[in-house]
Amino acid sequence: MNILLLGSGGREHAIAYKIAQSPKCQQLFIAPGNAGTAGCGTNVNLKNDDFAAIKQFVLEHDVQMLVVGPEAPLVAGIADFFKNDAQLSHVAVIGPSKQGATLEGSKEFAKQFMQRHGIPTARYQSFTKETLPQAVEFLKTMQPPYVLKADGLAAGKGVLIINNLAEAETELHNMLENAKFGNASSTVVIEEFLSGIELSVFVLTDGKNYKMLPSAKDYKRIGEHDTGLNTGGMGSISPVPFANDEFMQKVEQRIVIPTVAGLQKDNIDYCGFIFIGLMNVAGNPYVIEYNVRMGDPETESVFPRINSDVVELFRHTADGTLDQATLDINPQTAACVMMVAGGYPESYRKGDVIIGIGDVEGSLVFHAGTKTNDSGETITNGGRVICITSFADTLPQALEKTYHNVEKIQWDGKYFRKDIGQDLLSY
Ligand code: AMP
Ligand code: GLY
Repeated sequence: MNILLLGSGGREHAIAYKIAQSPKCQQLFIAPGNAGTAGCGTNVNLKNDDFAAIKQFVLEHDVQMLVVGPEAPLVAGIADFFKNDAQLSHVAVIGPSKQGATLEGSKEFAKQFMQRHGIPTARYQSFTKETLPQAVEFLKTMQPPYVLKADGLAAGKGVLIINNLAEAETELHNMLENAKFGNASSTVVIEEFLSGIELSVFVLTDGKNYKMLPSAKDYKRIGEHDTGLNTGGMGSISPVPFANDEFMQKVEQRIVIPTVAGLQKDNIDYCGFIFIGLMNVAGNPYVIEYNVRMGDPETESVFPRINSDVVELFRHTADGTLDQATLDINPQTAACVMMVAGGYPESYRKGDVIIGIGDVEGSLVFHAGTKTNDSGETITNGGRVICITSFADTLPQALEKTYHNVEKIQWDGKYFRKDIGQDLLSY
């Protein structure tokens, strides 16, 4: 069948790499893709928010499956658009309905969902401009550090963790009264701080059945030892060594099963990925957030570990028969290190020529922000540029392979963290 994948990052390159391996995939189109995805299929110049143009393309190219990489088209309702259009309703869409995507699009909605279905999460209350005095009172009942979250999508920047009460009050005013995060902070969730170590768990669901994909840990800060500004993610490791069988049993029983059952009880149409951001608090999992897509760069270590045919898995997902699918996972450890443009996550340059990609041996290369220029050279085209993923029987071996190959790729201003996975070596 012909498949259209939406997105342009390292996540999409890793998904495209797996889709292209499937004998069930005839033609793969990636919109808009990057220089790496062009090696897995055909990049097409479609905007992810232009549903009319996507429809036209799907009809013209007999696309039978749409796989949605990023959250924005899901939150904008692309799955509903396909379902409700007589010419498109036969297309299998991997990605939840607009209502399902609200689990990521609204923190308040997600918190209410968790509360309703008894899913462990931090204690919270939410407030608007009208209830600002109550918000200040609630804040005073909490212990520092104070966690303030803009309800809506804020490009990953809407969470503030503040040690000082006066400063937290100021930021609360800024969010609610001065629209610090625009409309996204017209509602603010104030929640208890959870102390522990984070990990990401990924679930593929057809709305009733589910498969748990490998766990992963990502590294969000720009600086070594988790210092400096937040980024999209500087590397990832899968599996997570402390997520042993006992812990993962708790995750499945306390979080995954009630989440999928909750979607059913609430009549939420959900056919796609659930990315559960978890905190391991003294051996017990708590949900920090839901995302309605795969993580980036978690996908770059999780997807290559899937031995099964992902198109078959997606087909079962769309058909509601995921219970009949098999999921075979490579037991080895995958280590992914992201290389970024100098200056990222603040301002950075685009257009630098990247050399050495062809010299990489024994590892996978996933492109994120790259494109091909008129001379056929691969150039930087984003903050996160390119990553290397390697497999090995142990984490140190996987890291060694990855870092060996990271050295081979060069451009002016290249930066990467040298400590990816180091914190996990003691488990
Ligand atoms: P989010 O945008 O929801 O992923 O939050 C960004 C980051 O803030 C998370 O990855 C956590 O590191 C941190 N965080 C969010 N909520 C909490 C919480 N309740 N306790 C501790 N850390 C949190
Ligand atoms: N790596 C975190 C995310 O994709 O949201």
